[in-house]
Amino acid sequence: MKNKIVSAISKSTGVKDVRLEIPEVREHGDYSSNIALVLAKKRKKRPRDLANEIVKKLEKDRELAKIVSKIEVAGPGFINFWLSKETILDELRKVLKLGEKYGSSNLGKRKTVVIDYSSPNIAKRFGIGHMRSTIIGQALYNLYSFLGYKVIGDNHLGDWGTQFGTLLAQIRISNIEIRNLNIEKLEKLYVEFNKKAKDNPKLWDEARAWFKKLEDGDKGARKIWKQIVEISKKEFERIYDLLGIKIDKSFGESFYEDKMKAIVDELCQKGLSKKSKGAEIVEFDDLPPAMLIKSDYATTYYTRDLATVKFRVEKFKPDIIIYEVGSEQKLHFKQVFATAGLMGWLKTTKLVHVAHGLIRFKEGKMSTRRGQSVMLEDILDESIKRAKKIIEKSEMSRGLPKKEKYAVAKTVGIGAIKYFDLSHHYSSDIIFDWEKMFVLEGNSAPYLQYTHVRTQSVLRKANGKWKVESGKLNSQFSNFNFQFNKEELAVLRSLVHFPEVIEDCARAYSPNLLCNYLFGLAQKYNTFYNQHRILPSQITNHKSQITSEFRLALTSATGQTLKNGLRLLGIETPRKM
Ligand code: ARG
Repeated sequence: MKNKIVSAISKSTGVKDVRLEIPEVREHGDYSSNIALVLAKKRKKRPRDLANEIVKKLEKDRELAKIVSKIEVAGPGFINFWLSKETILDELRKVLKLGEKYGSSNLGKRKTVVIDYSSPNIAKRFGIGHMRSTIIGQALYNLYSFLGYKVIGDNHLGDWGTQFGTLLAQIRISNIEIRNLNIEKLEKLYVEFNKKAKDNPKLWDEARAWFKKLEDGDKGARKIWKQIVEISKKEFERIYDLLGIKIDKSFGESFYEDKMKAIVDELCQKGLSKKSKGAEIVEFDDLPPAMLIKSDYATTYYTRDLATVKFRVEKFKPDIIIYEVGSEQKLHFKQVFATAGLMGWLKTTKLVHVAHGLIRFKEGKMSTRRGQSVMLEDILDESIKRAKKIIEKSEMSRGLPKKEKYAVAKTVGIGAIKYFDLSHHYSSDIIFDWEKMFVLEGNSAPYLQYTHVRTQSVLRKANGKWKVESGKLNSQFSNFNFQFNKEELAVLRSLVHFPEVIEDCARAYSPNLLCNYLFGLAQKYNTFYNQHRILPSQITNHKSQITSEFRLALTSATGQTLKNGLRLLGIETPRKM
């Protein structure tokens, strides 16, 4: 819908890049354009006059006339569009017909996106620090896939680097059997080493020597390293299972180990790097220098990311590579992107850092701390526990078998966490707040899940008496002079925007737009539900029959759209709750 209006405006104004807003106030129509305000100065006209001229032209556009029932100039020169009743009903039919596919498109046909996300570090438990990358990254993955892009998710595991020298040294110092290692012990080894090295700085030399051994392919060192990677990966898998996350690839930093020499050589050849105090660095005009090779010849995180860009560009030929990584790495990615550009690797590839903000905890409110950092698993467990309490209280779940109750608690608990994260713009810091996460009448996953359950229970009750197939809708409603009430119209007009919101989310790397949309849709549906009867106790005439059928169709379409939207966010919808 939006695209059709945009191209009509383009045609009548000669402007290529036309923007269309969805007005906050419904009295301003379904779409609004400020094109006349933007163009007025250049064309030396008063905005309102220009708007009227444009509207005159638009009114002659036959394609537009098929979908729009009214175009009006408002305020200082906005042009507002109202979709026709038929258009809106057509969209309702479309939702019912397309079902799970509603909102998908082939916008990304023949385009490829690589998404670098999650990317925890080996030998450490999965901390809260990698939660946002995992959740937002997966949502972006789902959105781009739904839009027809070929998407490659890559978990860029931190499985290489000088810290492994520390670990290996400590394992040797404390004479530990690798067979007995687990992730907790591994994490402690770091801490122990750092403590010891404070009194005995010479230990750092030992750690460096161990990393050198590892890089040189020493068999013993390799064996221990491999074991450590395996232990960690198993740990991460457990978290991913709980979160319902599956990432296509996990090359990890170590994959680039044998590709780094070529990168360093290429940079030297092109004169991009230079010697500095025994190290090799890269300088920029407007950024601090980056370290390519340390003075002890070890490579760095930066070197590995350069190798990663080159590999991805050559292997996948992506249009975009998205890095879903915390904002504390902004400088790092600026340096990597700038270098890749200078090297001429980015002829057809765009690099984007979706830099997410921090998660903060209200002071003293976090009881699930083990050691220094907050573990994601503890948070997830706590969330499932809270969900279970709510479900136990809710009457809808009466009669749920115990096993299903746990499954629902998991769906609601995990959903609450994911949604809380996703509903904030990625760039903002978020303050962890259990109350908000589970608020049943607010912008939360449980509210949306509950609304979805509501739609399904209405449909179950109606089952057998009414059919809500799109074909039926087609035959009945077009011949019937149907007047929607305000609440029905609000839901219908909201449904129309779902496919557009998905495109906006992908374009702006912002799943929070989808959260806002779903919340709005659910609110509108609940208002309608509270004010109107969907299933009368008795059908008295043709009109009441059609009204019920229409309302069931509306209910079904709302349920489907909520479900599709939540699924894109990585959130499941329980049958009951
Ligand atoms: N493992 C890194 C960290 O925890 C994140 C990696 C992000 N991806 C990348 N290509 N650098 O800080």
